[in-house]
Amino acid sequence: MRESINFLSQVIKNPAKIGAIAPSSKGLAELIVQEAQLQDAKVIVELGPGTGVFTRAILEAMSPESDYFALEINRNFVETLEFTHPEATVYHDSAEAIGEYLKKHGHEKCDRIISGLPWAAFEFEQQQSLIAKIHDSLVDGGLFLTFAYFPLNHLPNGRSFYELLSGKFTSVQKTDTVSNLPPAFVYVCEK
Ligand SMILES: C[S@@+](CC[C@H](N)C(=O)[O-])C[C@H]1O[C@@H](n2cnc3c(N)ncnc32)[C@H](O)[C@@H]1O
Repeated sequence: MRESINFLSQVIKNPAKIGAIAPSSKGLAELIVQEAQLQDAKVIVELGPGTGVFTRAILEAMSPESDYFALEINRNFVETLEFTHPEATVYHDSAEAIGEYLKKHGHEKCDRIISGLPWAAFEFEQQQSLIAKIHDSLVDGGLFLTFAYFPLNHLPNGRSFYELLSGKFTSVQKTDTVSNLPPAFVYVCEK
């Protein structure tokens, strides 16, 4: 409950940057993490963790030997995560800076990128720039996972985002839709 209130207060302050009305559901978090096959991943990056619904599921599923960090642009969410998930490394910075933080952790590339970013709130040029950086940051065969709201994926913005993913990644799979506010599904993109 406290998590939802905190989330909503940030939505009221920055609606365009949050791009959702509530944190993702536990079901969506379980789906995205299950599809990420984290047992095989040595380096994992989360983008836009918000209040940490995916973070919690990632930390539970990943191997203790794996390296994990997150990039979150909202300072209030970073401070919340420092309190609720002190074991997680969360930087207050934009997802655009993923390459710099991989270097800081001693890596060229990562195996998994799990995104909570609000794609529909970004201009197409920003989507293109971010997807290019995400693709560059993954090893060959690495997975990028992100969610989309149903049925908004059928609107022109949603269709152009799918085309952007399909043009960049070797394969893009769409999961079933799960209960969420609004209902959502996951794109599983393989480099
Ligand atoms: C739709 S919310 C999702 C939050 C959380 N992952 C969830 O599923 O409940 C989008 C999150 O992305 C963050 N965000 C937006 N733009 C960002 C950017 N350029 N870099 C990093 N985080 C960003 C927002 O502050 C917010 O926490």
